[in-house]
Amino acid sequence: MANVLIVMSGGIAAYKVLDLIRRLRERGHTTPVVMTEAAQRFVTPLSVGALSNAPVLTELWDLDREREIGHIRLARSADVVLVAPASADFLARMAHGLADDLATAVLLATGAPVVVAPAMNPFMWEHPATQRSVAQLTADGVRTVGPEAGEMAERNEAGVGRLAETSALIAAVEEALGADRPLAGRHVLVTSGPTHEPIDPVRYIANRSSGRQGHAIAAAAARAGATVTLVSGPVRLADPAGVETHHVESARDMLGAVERALPADAAVFAAAVADWRVNAAAQKLKKGSGPLPTLELTENPDILATVSRSPQRPTLVVGFAAETEHVLPNARAKLERKGCDWIVANDVSQGVFGAETNTVHLVSAAGVEDWPTAGKDEVAAKLVARIAEALSGA
Ligand code: C5P
Repeated sequence: MANVLIVMSGGIAAYKVLDLIRRLRERGHTTPVVMTEAAQRFVTPLSVGALSNAPVLTELWDLDREREIGHIRLARSADVVLVAPASADFLARMAHGLADDLATAVLLATGAPVVVAPAMNPFMWEHPATQRSVAQLTADGVRTVGPEAGEMAERNEAGVGRLAETSALIAAVEEALGADRPLAGRHVLVTSGPTHEPIDPVRYIANRSSGRQGHAIAAAAARAGATVTLVSGPVRLADPAGVETHHVESARDMLGAVERALPADAAVFAAAVADWRVNAAAQKLKKGSGPLPTLELTENPDILATVSRSPQRPTLVVGFAAETEHVLPNARAKLERKGCDWIVANDVSQGVFGAETNTVHLVSAAGVEDWPTAGKDEVAAKLVARIAEALSGA
C-alpha cells in the first residue's frame, strides 16, 4: 500500500488517468494528484478529486496550500511518482530540470522513483527533440512506460503515441515500488522489549531491554515495504509508523500473540524474554512477621525455539543472543539449540541495553560476520536488507 503521487500534464489521454486513479485506489494505494495548467483544460480538478479522494494540487504559489502541505513535503512523502499523461512539452521541461510550476518543482524535489507515461501525436513522439528528452530522462534514472501503437485521437492518424494501457501503468508503478521496497508483499513478524513476569498483582520481574533495536527492525521492515506485526513487551517507545503493534506483558502472552500472527515470511525475535516466571500469588504478598517469601520459578516457553520447530515455521527465523561472555561460541550453540537460521549476537557486558548503538555479529550456518558498531537504526536497516536478500531467493 503505497503513496502514488500522480502528475498530470496536458493531453487528450488525461481522461484515461481517471480510470487509472480508481484502479490504483482499489489496490489500496493513496493517490494525491498534481495537475498542470494544461491538464486542467482536459479534465477538471473536481472530477480528479472526486475519484482520488486525496488532495488535488494545481498551484505552486498557493500560500495556504504551501503552509498546509508544501511542495517539498508532497514530493518527499511520495513512494513513487507517475507522470501520466506526459506530454512532449512536459518531458522537455523535466529533461531540463525546470521547476516553474508545482508539477515540475515536485519532480525535482522527490527522492522517489519516477515513472513517465508519454502520450502524444506520433510525429511529436518521433521528433528528435522528444527523443532527446526521453534519452536524458532515462539517463537520469526515470522509467518510461509506453507509448503504444494504435489509433490516435486525430482522425486517420495512427502510429506510436497512445498512452499505455491502465494495466501496464499499474504494473510499471508497482515494479518501481518493488525496486525500492524489496519486502513488498512479505509479512515480517518482530518481537521486541522485555517481558514482565508477575510475582503478585502489584510486583513483577523484568529486565533492562529498552525495545529500541526490535522497534527499529520493525520500522525498517515497514519502510522496505513489508506488512509488519510487532509483538512488544512493555517499553517506553511509540509504536512504529505503519506497523501493527500488539502489546503484551508476560512471555506466555508474547507466545500467544506471536502464534496468532503466523504465518510470516520472516520472524525476528529481538525481545529479551524472561527465562523464568514466578508461580504468582493471587493476592499481594504481605510484609510481616512470618518467614520471608521465596520465589518459586518455572521455566517459560521458549518462543524462538517453539516457532522454529512449528509447522508454521517462517522461511527465515532470526534470533538474538545477548551475552556477557563467550559471545560467539554461545551464539553458535544457540543457533543449533533453537533451530533458527541466524543469530544476531551482541556483547551486552558494556551496557548495550537502552544505548543508541550496537555492535553485533551475524552468525549463521555459513559462518560469522562481524558488523561495525553502528546506530540501532543502521543495524536494523542492514539486517532488513539481508532478510530481503535471503527471501528473494526463497
Ligand atoms: O536463550 P536466550 O534467552 O539467550 O535466547 C535469546 C533469543 O531467544 C532471543 O532471540 C529471544 O528473543 C529468544 N527467546 C524467546 N523466548 C524465550 C527466551 C528467549 O523467544 N523464552
